Amino acid sequence: MITIRPEKPGDEEQIRHVNIQAFGRDAEAKLIELLRGSRFYVEGLSLVAEQDNQIIGHIMFSMAMLISNKQEVMPILALAPMSVLPQYQKQGIGTQLVKTGLKRAEYSRFPAVVVLGHPEYYSRFGFVRASEKGVYASFGSPDEVYMILELTPHALENITGNVRYPPCFDDI
Ligand SMILES: CC(C)(COP(=O)(O)OP(=O)(O)OC[C@H]1O[C@@H](n2cnc3c(N)ncnc32)[C@H](O)[C@@H]1OP(=O)(O)O)[C@@H](O)C(=O)NCCC(=O)NCCS
Repeated sequence: MITIRPEKPGDEEQIRHVNIQAFGRDAEAKLIELLRGSRFYVEGLSLVAEQDNQIIGHIMFSMAMLISNKQEVMPILALAPMSVLPQYQKQGIGTQLVKTGLKRAEYSRFPAVVVLGHPEYYSRFGFVRASEKGVYASFGSPDEVYMILELTPHALENITGNVRYPPCFDDI
């Protein structure tokens, strides 16, 4: 039985372990730690997948800024990183993390979520190419892998621009 729940104090070490195992390096684990201590951290939107008191997956949504061509700023969410322990991958745990995360995100104050990832995977959850909405990553990414989902209908109707990530993403 797998439970998806927000991270709580004491989970930090296991979240670090899951990320290092999934990515084979510690850059994402470090990113999570930096985000957790920053103003970009969104309470309740760092979620873990837990089985028998062991954390086997993790997903984080943090705050990014959509900067319009007129320099208006719209805070949105960025989904990153996401990880599942290698031995538990391809069993739908990532899907559960994304679905639960998006459901919770709908109740947040943020109107949209961006993600850099596999188009076939994220389109299952309603993500579309961000460029279709006139939204681009400020770091420049291949068009087909940068995706966006409106959490509030029509949220992006009157705004186009670039997404600026928290500075701690610069090293990733
Ligand atoms: C990406 C990841 C979290 C998916 O978790 P999961 O529990 O295996 O996901 P699910 O079982 O719900 O779905 C598996 C599907 O994810 C797809 N997928 C999505 N993103 C992927 C990625 N970055 N790498 C590999 N497969 C990915 C697979 O192709 C697979 O497709 P299928 O359903 O057609 O077989 C997991 O593979 C992982 O930890 N990968 C290493 C870390 C990583 O690359 N994270 C994503 C970037 S932040």
